Amino acid sequence: MTHGITWRTAGTVEKKRDAVAMRTFTCATPRSGDKYPPDFEDEVQRHFRQRAITAANTARDRGLDGRLRIAEDSQGIAAAFSHRRLDHTDPAESKILLDIPASHVARELCFLAVAVRHRNQNGTVADEAVIEALWDIRDQEPAAERIWVLGRVDYRNKASMRMLQRHSFREVTRGEPPPKGDQRLGWWLRVLDQQPTALF
Ligand SMILES: CC(C)(COP(=O)(O)OP(=O)(O)OC[C@H]1O[C@@H](n2cnc3c(N)ncnc32)[C@H](O)[C@@H]1OP(=O)(O)O)[C@@H](O)C(=O)NCCC(=O)NCCS
Repeated sequence: MTHGITWRTAGTVEKKRDAVAMRTFTCATPRSGDKYPPDFEDEVQRHFRQRAITAANTARDRGLDGRLRIAEDSQGIAAAFSHRRLDHTDPAESKILLDIPASHVARELCFLAVAVRHRNQNGTVADEAVIEALWDIRDQEPAAERIWVLGRVDYRNKASMRMLQRHSFREVTRGEPPPKGDQRLGWWLRVLDQQPTALF
């Protein structure tokens, strides 16, 4: 724990309290006059507010070990992330996993966000969230020698790309705007090996 925040798993023990706290989690740049938050940030915020708990539970029910972790400070949720296993047997997901041996574990770092009050501060809370996510991913897969951690990023989300670069993720595919196809999201990858020093 640093920055006065503590991490816990959301949506399991204190479900109602978590659902209420999630509803006001504000990670998208606030509207200023007639300037609206970028739609890709708004989507992430809506996901956390409305769907994150259900999504984690659904992934758990599918046997994919859905995890939703939140950090709180005195003002409420300070940061949050979710991750789950990718499924080699699912045709949609196996396309993504083409180059990854079926015997290897792959997980998606699905969403990660930091409350607006902690943004624009050199990524300190964002960095803590990524490191916490990587530890949590590794803790969830104690038997795996190698874990492929994949994340999807909107091609306009510079803050997110910079954050992933700081943590040795590399861009595997770049999202592209329409009309080439509405493929806004590109894939980023970090491979985790089971050595304690490999996360930093
Ligand atoms: C992704 C995130 C956690 C990174 O946090 P962070 O490392 O603290 O980064 P910040 O948000 O403070 O932004 C850092 C930089 O990106 C810039 N930036 C922020 N939003 C931007 C945008 N929409 N377009 C371009 N640049 C942007 C900032 O001006 C800052 O630039 P600088 O480093 O040159 O000063 C945080 O931006 C966030 O929570 N975003 C909303 C949710 C989200 O999009 N999550 C990722 C997808 S799941």
